[in-house]
Amino acid sequence: MVPRFPDVSFVNLDKLTYAGNLLNLTDIENAHNYKFVHGDIADGDLVQRLFDEHVFTTVVHFAAESHVDRSIMAPLAFVKTNVIGTAMLLETARHAWADRAEDPARYRFFHVSTDEVFGSLDDEGMFSESTPYDPRSPYSASKASSDHFVRAYAHTYDLPVLISNCSNNYGPFQFPEKLIPLVILNALHERPVPIYGKGENVRDWLHVHDHCDAINLILREGTPGDTYLVGGNNERTNLDLVKLLLDLVDETLGRSPESSRELITFVKDRAGHDFRYAIDASHLMDDLGWSPSYSLETGMRATVEWYLAHQDWLNAVSDASYRDYYAQQYEQR
Ligand code: TYD
Repeated sequence: MVPRFPDVSFVNLDKLTYAGNLLNLTDIENAHNYKFVHGDIADGDLVQRLFDEHVFTTVVHFAAESHVDRSIMAPLAFVKTNVIGTAMLLETARHAWADRAEDPARYRFFHVSTDEVFGSLDDEGMFSESTPYDPRSPYSASKASSDHFVRAYAHTYDLPVLISNCSNNYGPFQFPEKLIPLVILNALHERPVPIYGKGENVRDWLHVHDHCDAINLILREGTPGDTYLVGGNNERTNLDLVKLLLDLVDETLGRSPESSRELITFVKDRAGHDFRYAIDASHLMDDLGWSPSYSLETGMRATVEWYLAHQDWLNAVSDASYRDYYAQQYEQR
């Protein structure tokens, strides 16, 4: 296969916790410019060794515990990876890049974050880069903390940072704890589809390919020190979104129209459930010319088709530990 970005060497550091899986990377695993390292961003010796060995000029920091429900069940893993792990990467980069005066423009620390740091909206308004932080779950508190560390390193040590805060991602290879793959998996097996509360909460959905294009653009053309909000311009209530997904599953599998809607089951609401997220992405759109290429309809259709065509992958990732998690999370609801 012809690698994308042949002029760049990639080192992918991943702890391969429950949601990580080498099956997600088979199409690049043999690329000449790609190396996988199994390890933890909070392991300072390992991170230092990798900086020494590879002399990185760029860090794109995606690594995070990311599921709100898990953060409610067990918050400390979020502190360790999201806060301490981020601080470890920053601290190592600051020392490794102390002599960057000769060519400062080559260095970038890109921190990938979430719109959940801004809290929750009512029916009106949108988050922008100037919205005050107001995290409300252990997950969003850990990401807010990591954003603050990144900005602190920019202010204190002049580290060349970029931050992006995105809305809800969806698309291929997403672990089926998140709403969209969970709905598709349950619908496929004709199991109840759990909706928290009344399904009135609103999320903005961003296709992962659009998100990656935004990150690549910001990395190459963004202004160091800036923050960019990335949104899909696709707001829906959870109930409307689930109905759309179920109808697409019916269509793709040749079931009678709207038959899977019977699987919808309203369950106990999430503790502290944020009502609405919405993003004003005009900084990224106006300054760097980005816009999302997927509409909700095209993105959801492509996603349903992907999961139904990759049932081996779904079976492989929904193993015993997934079933334990599912039982713990949903059986008492
Ligand atoms: P999720 O995919 O967990 O993302 P986030 O919490 O980061 O927004 O959830 C998306 C929305 O769907 C959120 O409002 C919670 C809701 N939800 C359900 O109604 N049922 C479910 O089983 C899950 C996982 C989420």
